[in-house]
Amino acid sequence: MEETRIQDRGVAGTIDPVEAPGEKAPARHPQRLRGGVGRPVPHDSGPRHVSGEALYTDDDPELPGTLQVFIAMSARAHARLVRLDLDAVRQAPGVACVLSARDIPGVNDYSPVFGDDPIFPEAHVEYVGQPLFAVAAETVGQARAAAKLAVVDYEDLEPAVTIDEAVALADALGRDLLDPHEMRLGDAGAAIRSAPLTLEGEVETGGQDHFYLEGHIAYAWPLEGGDILVRSSTQHPSEVQHNVAKALGLSDHAVTVEVRRMGGGFGGKESQPALFASVCALVAQATGRPAKCRLDRDDDMEMTGKRHEMRTRYRVGFDNTGRLHGADFRHLVRCGYSRDLSGAIADRAMFHADNAYDLKAARIHSRRLKTHTVSNTAFRGFGGPQGMVAIERAMDRIAHQTGLDPLDVRKRNFYAPMGRGQPGTTPYGQSVEDCVIGEIVAELEATSDYRARREAVRRFNEGSPVLKKGLALTPVKFGISFTTSHLNQAGALIHIYKDGSIHLNHGGTEMGQGLFTKVAQVVAEEFGVELAVVKITPTTTAKVPNTSATAASSGADLNGMAAQNACRTLKERLADYACQRYDLRRDEVQFLPGRVRLGADEKRFRDLVGEAYLARVSLSATGFYATPGISYDRDKAKGKPFYYFAYGASCSEVVIDTLTGENRLLRADILHDVGQSLNPALDLGQIEGGFIQGLGWLTTEELWWDASGRLRTHAPSTYKIPTANDRPDDLRVSLWEKGRNPAATVFRSKAVGEPPFMLALSAFSALGDAVLAAGDYRRFPALDAPATPERLLHAVEAVRR
Ligand code: MTE
Ligand code: MOS
Repeated sequence: MEETRIQDRGVAGTIDPVEAPGEKAPARHPQRLRGGVGRPVPHDSGPRHVSGEALYTDDDPELPGTLQVFIAMSARAHARLVRLDLDAVRQAPGVACVLSARDIPGVNDYSPVFGDDPIFPEAHVEYVGQPLFAVAAETVGQARAAAKLAVVDYEDLEPAVTIDEAVALADALGRDLLDPHEMRLGDAGAAIRSAPLTLEGEVETGGQDHFYLEGHIAYAWPLEGGDILVRSSTQHPSEVQHNVAKALGLSDHAVTVEVRRMGGGFGGKESQPALFASVCALVAQATGRPAKCRLDRDDDMEMTGKRHEMRTRYRVGFDNTGRLHGADFRHLVRCGYSRDLSGAIADRAMFHADNAYDLKAARIHSRRLKTHTVSNTAFRGFGGPQGMVAIERAMDRIAHQTGLDPLDVRKRNFYAPMGRGQPGTTPYGQSVEDCVIGEIVAELEATSDYRARREAVRRFNEGSPVLKKGLALTPVKFGISFTTSHLNQAGALIHIYKDGSIHLNHGGTEMGQGLFTKVAQVVAEEFGVELAVVKITPTTTAKVPNTSATAASSGADLNGMAAQNACRTLKERLADYACQRYDLRRDEVQFLPGRVRLGADEKRFRDLVGEAYLARVSLSATGFYATPGISYDRDKAKGKPFYYFAYGASCSEVVIDTLTGENRLLRADILHDVGQSLNPALDLGQIEGGFIQGLGWLTTEELWWDASGRLRTHAPSTYKIPTANDRPDDLRVSLWEKGRNPAATVFRSKAVGEPPFMLALSAFSALGDAVLAAGDYRRFPALDAPATPERLLHAVEAVRR
């Protein structure tokens, strides 16, 4: 049984039905505005997604002469490239162009920040799957076949694949991939030493492949004068534009990047699309022909980066009431061969080591390690999930050691509630002023029937020697903003045509999360028009420049505000015109649903627009937004990196088979705070999807590299993402009705893209609880993620030994 409550907090009042231009004036019976903020309108592409009409990059009709590009990959994890002879490749049938490092007129790099991601390697390869060279041919088959004719000689070097090998390599070299970072609050060492009780442990979390349904793809067209147009499946068009220009030796203004939508990004299309776009653009530049590169699933999984694996050593001091006195965390982060976004990701893991708990005193140390594997990258939560796992393990262990219920231990340590008492301080010095986790957890504890089910689980386990159940209720607190403060900016461009219809563009990208719908709702709300009046258009660097990636869950926060800003500029212009024309004061002009009040009179929005056009008023405006009041001083490891926090909680009940390790999530209850929802239907979708994706990361998705650095799980045959069957039969997701963002976000909403991912921690914790039960609660099990049947079986054996 599923219960999904949809709140209807419609702000809007009434509106005339949308009319085609030239239609007669509407009747005097106004209808409700259908597209405004707060309504559960469907995703704008929903019907197109299911009918197959939604166009993705690969659906663009191919221009005559289009070349297909295949990227050949390194077979070695770490080697000197002794010889790369591509003569036979060039001679192969259908081949129009072969590119390697020496064929790049500009800079041979597609990295987001550090300049250490060569498009093609010059002398060394550093992971199995690293692009070596590219072949463009009439068909992909020809390009693939031609690539096999290359003569590649390697001189093997020792690869570092595991975290232990990475530590050994770093220690031998005397440097890590990126400098370590440390956050301190008070004297954690002293606090832990003087606490009545202490414990220490270690937990590892595995990586995760994004497994977007649409793999990486780019399509480049040469334009006149050497300019290039690129269609790219990217969360970050501006960075693709910049990197393509850099590789081709052009200025940014010569390159335009467009994307209507992605078939999923999940962070995997933040930095890496630049590689495929650059390769296609290089082919287009070299041949004068359009070029497309579309990866198949295995190539995508081998060639592109994933979630960072992480090992955390934790030590906590506490008392017999379960109250923490201090905590110490050491993170070892497996970054892969290059830096990519690893610095910011490892930082975010540190920013979330506290999760929702006031640690009182803390030390968090993080090392960012190089391995000879693909360069790991952004993935939903951006390090946050990895950061939270250790403190949640610690909570369960404290409960085990003190004999308290794990939920009581958690509650005892929450940050002080908003408006009551002194706000707690995070290890990075931000004061937590908007904490609502206590209220959310209390509500979920009641609605999920936690106490009674705790009893029921205990009774079940007493009478069940083989199957064991587990239960857990865990919180999430997630910081919203890019922690690289300058990225928190966005732009929008809005035109009103003289028939009153509206063209909307902004710097955000659509990857399924519903951003385009939400921003259109904001615009409809501002002008008081129906959603259908607002045309959603593809993201392009030609309309809104210098954008940030659609990431950090802040797509709607940033682009919604930028669009609102553009709307307000246009409304001011229309109002100025009306004041002059009808001799009104500004406060006598009001934009209402479906109409504009002009003193004692009213006009339809489109009629006012038509008049303003004739009076030569500009009906096009840009909008801009920069999040106020945030900064982080990395040298001091202190600041206010987050504009606000998003909160949520979940309760999971699982059952494991102690003979096989097989397991199931039986029921999950979720209560999540999205502030005042811009769109409750989309928000529920994000919560459910995020939770299930988190469940996959923590239970079934296992990336496995062999000792030579070859990824052996690079297809759905060996890599198990959750299916519809893994969704619990009983899933109850609710938006927190009292939610309201104290920070001045767009219509007081809260970001929702990433935080729900970490709700899945309750399932991981519940699995641990079931293992504890298997050993009659005598020993606390070591358990790493993903908690696959194999790992669970080992854990059961360990607690029963
Ligand atoms: N939802 C869908 N359907 N597809 C996606 O690729 N990406 C997630 C999340 N939800 C994603 C998604 C990630 S990693 C982020 S950062 C946010 O959406 C980005 O969009 P937003 O900022 O508009 O929430
Ligand atoms: Mo999301 S990992 O910030 O793209």
